Amino acid sequence: MELLKQRIREVGQVLSNEVIKLDAILNHAVDPVLTTAMGKEFATIFAEEGVTKILTIESSGIPIAFAAAQILNVPMVFARRKKPVSSDTTEIYSERVPSFTKGFVTDIMVAREFLSAEDRILLIDDFIANGDAARGLIRIIRRSGAHLVGVGIAVEKTFQAGGRTIRESGIRVESLVSIASMEHGNIIFE
Ligand code: G4P
Ligand code: NA
Ligand code: NA
Repeated sequence: MELLKQRIREVGQVLSNEVIKLDAILNHAVDPVLTTAMGKEFATIFAEEGVTKILTIESSGIPIAFAAAQILNVPMVFARRKKPVSSDTTEIYSERVPSFTKGFVTDIMVAREFLSAEDRILLIDDFIANGDAARGLIRIIRRSGAHLVGVGIAVEKTFQAGGRTIRESGIRVESLVSIASMEHGNIIFE
């Protein structure tokens, strides 16, 4: 997606060989025009999949997932990262995931009432690094009995294994832009 590449070149700050700061468009501020365009891209890519619901995870996945959901005219659900009020496993799906950027383990959860076996789920997130968050969400989808139609990612860092390993498990993963390398502060797109 050319517009997203252009905006990444404009506002991205490479913090290390592995992490890029994109606060101005993804992780702290929202550009509605760009976000709507990202939603349209996902809606077009997955148009034939009969999506009934979009799943993302708080917080930075929410605006892009919302944009796609609005165009596909389906509800959007976001997994939560905080401890649920009820830890009753008859009410929630909970999965433990390690975080590459934060260096610790977090719990993610979705209330059972928001996923059903009849759903065809499109999973959307802002970044994929090692893919731990996505794999946790995929486990939740599997447990609900819903069908996962694919994963839409705004920025895939292909020098980290997340996208590749999820594709290797047979799941469709589509990224709007792929970053092959960020060494010496230079962003190299695929
Ligand atoms: P992984 O699931 O793919 O292994 O990645 P990881 O757990 O490390 O992701 C942890 C958080 O860091 C996620 O946001 C993810 O979107 C974000 N992230 C991963 N790589 C980068 C990067 O290069 N730059 C930036 N800016 N973020 C990155 P989160 O914890 O869900 O936080 P939130 O922003 O959604 O609230
Ligand atoms: Na994030
Ligand atoms: Na995220």
